[in-house]
Amino acid sequence: MFSKLVILLPLLISVVGSQDTNFIYNGFRSVNLSLDGIATITSNGLLELTDDTMEQMGHAFYPTPISFKNSLNDSAFSFSTTFVFAIASRYPALKGQGIAFVISPTRGRPGALSNQYLGLFNETNNGNATNHVVAVELDTIQNQEFKDINDNHVGVDINSLKSATSTSAGYYADSGAFMNLTLISGNPMQVWVEYDGVKKQLNVTLAPIDVGKPKFPLLSLSRDLSPIINKTMYVGFSSTNGPFLTFHYILGWSFKMNGKAQELALSQLPKLPRGKERSKLLTIGLPVILVSLVLVAISGATYVIKRKRKFAELVEDWEVDYGPHRFKYKDLYIATKGFREKELLGSGGFGKVYKGVLTTSKIEIAVKKVSHESSQGMREFVAEIVSIGRLRHRNLVPLLGYCRRKRELLLVYDYMSYGSLDKYLFDQPQATLSWSQRFKVIKGVASGLFYLHEGWDQVVIHRDVKASNVLLDGELNGKLGDFGLARLYDHGTDPQTTHVVGTLGYLAPEHTRRGKATTSTDVYAFGAFMLEVACGRRPIQANGPPEHSILVDWVFSHFSRGEIMEARDPNYGTSYVAEELELVLKLGLMCSHSEAAARPSMRQVVQYLEGDVPFPDLSSLGLSSTGLTFAHGDGLDDFFLSYPSSMNQAFSHTSSIAESLLSGGR
Ligand SMILES: *[C@@H]1O[C@H](CO)[C@@H](O)[C@H](O)[C@H]1NC(C)=O
Ligand SMILES: *[C@@H]1O[C@H](CO)[C@@H](O)[C@H](O)[C@H]1NC(C)=O
Ligand SMILES: *[C@@H]1O[C@H](CO)[C@@H](O)[C@H](O)[C@H]1NC(C)=O
Ligand SMILES: *[C@@H]1O[C@H](CO)[C@@H](O)[C@H](O)[C@H]1NC(C)=O
Ligand SMILES: *[C@@H]1O[C@H](CO)[C@@H](O)[C@H](O)[C@H]1NC(C)=O
Ligand SMILES: *[C@@H]1O[C@H](CO)[C@@H](O)[C@H](O)[C@H]1NC(C)=O
Ligand SMILES: *[C@@H]1O[C@H](CO)[C@@H](O)[C@H](O)[C@H]1NC(C)=O
Repeated sequence: MFSKLVILLPLLISVVGSQDTNFIYNGFRSVNLSLDGIATITSNGLLELTDDTMEQMGHAFYPTPISFKNSLNDSAFSFSTTFVFAIASRYPALKGQGIAFVISPTRGRPGALSNQYLGLFNETNNGNATNHVVAVELDTIQNQEFKDINDNHVGVDINSLKSATSTSAGYYADSGAFMNLTLISGNPMQVWVEYDGVKKQLNVTLAPIDVGKPKFPLLSLSRDLSPIINKTMYVGFSSTNGPFLTFHYILGWSFKMNGKAQELALSQLPKLPRGKERSKLLTIGLPVILVSLVLVAISGATYVIKRKRKFAELVEDWEVDYGPHRFKYKDLYIATKGFREKELLGSGGFGKVYKGVLTTSKIEIAVKKVSHESSQGMREFVAEIVSIGRLRHRNLVPLLGYCRRKRELLLVYDYMSYGSLDKYLFDQPQATLSWSQRFKVIKGVASGLFYLHEGWDQVVIHRDVKASNVLLDGELNGKLGDFGLARLYDHGTDPQTTHVVGTLGYLAPEHTRRGKATTSTDVYAFGAFMLEVACGRRPIQANGPPEHSILVDWVFSHFSRGEIMEARDPNYGTSYVAEELELVLKLGLMCSHSEAAARPSMRQVVQYLEGDVPFPDLSSLGLSSTGLTFAHGDGLDDFFLSYPSSMNQAFSHTSSIAESLLSGGR
């Protein structure tokens, strides 16, 4: 008997000593809570965890520690709590963060970040088992870092904001139907958190304030909280505001250890301060909103201006006449995918050429971007380009139109699927053309050039006939492109200096001397073109012995030895028509005669090529083995002396010779 009493006595004392905590606050007027951060109790007894101050947190804890375990074993007690909260934002689109009910080993959450982790953790301790924190979160933002399911959910957090379990906010009606709730609605809602220390189960239930406690909990977590909960713990609330203006309120709270928390007297709870909310929003929120709106407007305007500048064009009154030929820069920009490098077809002397597809018509185009510093002569040039654009010939690349911008001209051509002819001639090409294909191209280009010279009411000089300006369409028809372009660079130059435009190797001697382009200088270039096509060699070889460097001279040396056919492209093998090839080689020499008077006209060239007129004996034209018309000294010096240094990068070493000769005085 006695011994039993002795054993029982300490147990009784222990039970009496751990007086189960039990409190109820229907409003917090003159309640002793431990507050930190920006948490306050308003004059009407509302616990305001955060107001509309940005990036601030608030904590409110029951001031005394609570025993969650007895001293005999490590099993956590059952407990139960209920509270009424409200989360309000005048602008629900701008959501702040939520509220957490928290069981913590410390009063307050030292080290917690003020603008994240619901005011519970920081980036280093979030998720750490040494936290010993159990929380129920009412979360109004979706944070991917914590694998939040949405921006309106309830979760149970154990040592981490990554919830152990969570679900969308709402409640089960007695019928079993799920009713959605919006946490940030500003309406007061009640939460019940109940832990059964025997069943090791935590239930969380949510409901609107006027509904009463639902039969079924919203969340149920089967988990023994004993390892997480220390012997004594603090209970309270935590909230952070993040960057947006959100109010977090607790209206009433009751808690009971080892029993059911007392029912709150809902009618006695303090009223939410609608007026105050508005006034704070007016003084702080509204200016912030206005500033954001101004910023949005400014950035919008900047975008529009940038866009406008990006697609800006130059249009003058006189151009209206050429309306149909004018393209919108924006359309060309879209067609070429913003002139991106991938669409680059090539870059020639006058600018880069891009491939494009017009969005409306699906027509494939090639857009040449010509940069032009001086606006002088531009008008005349555009007029000429546009009038030339009216030229239609099957061996001219059709100019579809143009677009003019500041310092930039864009010319729009039909896209030629096989690209430029030079790709199939020189430097071990991947594919070469047969003789019959080349002969067809030569005849085509000849008739195109003839059309430019004589087929129209005004004489058009091409100025830059060469293989790389001849484009091949899908049927391998040669089409002459870029006509008239060289003209642009003739304008506005100093008439005192000889400034020649064209390409080294295709320039007639008198052209380099006098700087004047004529139909005859076009014929000279055409002669060089015929020879390069027939021989598969560039008009000037950069390396190799000097007597081989100029194609015209090289072919002439074969001619003078009576073996002109040896100059042919070895790629033909035996499949070529000797008469045609000989005609082209000899005609090439004749066209590239150093004396302009000795050259045929394009009309004659076409007649010879078509066989309408028999080809004359070359010796009768002074083109004989003793003619010396192509003597190295003569031609070469002329090229070098008069050629401007910037014209042809491929021959930069010869250009620098030219430069030094030029600066030496001429
Ligand atoms: C509030 O509670 C704390 C902790 O129990 C105590 O130290 C403090 O004196 C109390 N303050 C008031 C005003 O009762
Ligand atoms: C631990 O204590 C609780 C209540 O204090 C009791 O219900 C439980 O049975 C005890 N467990 C053990 C293993 O003694
Ligand atoms: C909580 O309990 C653990 C051991 O169970 C202990 O290491 C830790 O220091 C306790 N935390 C506090 C704040 O007392
Ligand atoms: C995080 O919080 C812990 C206390 O829980 C503190 O010791 C630590 O210094 C904090 N870390 C940072 C980076 O603030
Ligand atoms: C948890 O925190 C303790 C001390 O606060 C630290 O020593 C430990 O490395 C942390 N663990 C992890 C996984 O971060
Ligand atoms: C509740 O919300 C979910 C998603 O948030 C939605 O799919 C569902 O239709 C809503 N139910 C009701 C009754 O509004
Ligand atoms: C949790 O909810 C389930 C299902 O409604 C219920 O059976 C259980 O008793 C509840 N547990 C607690 C601790 O309230």
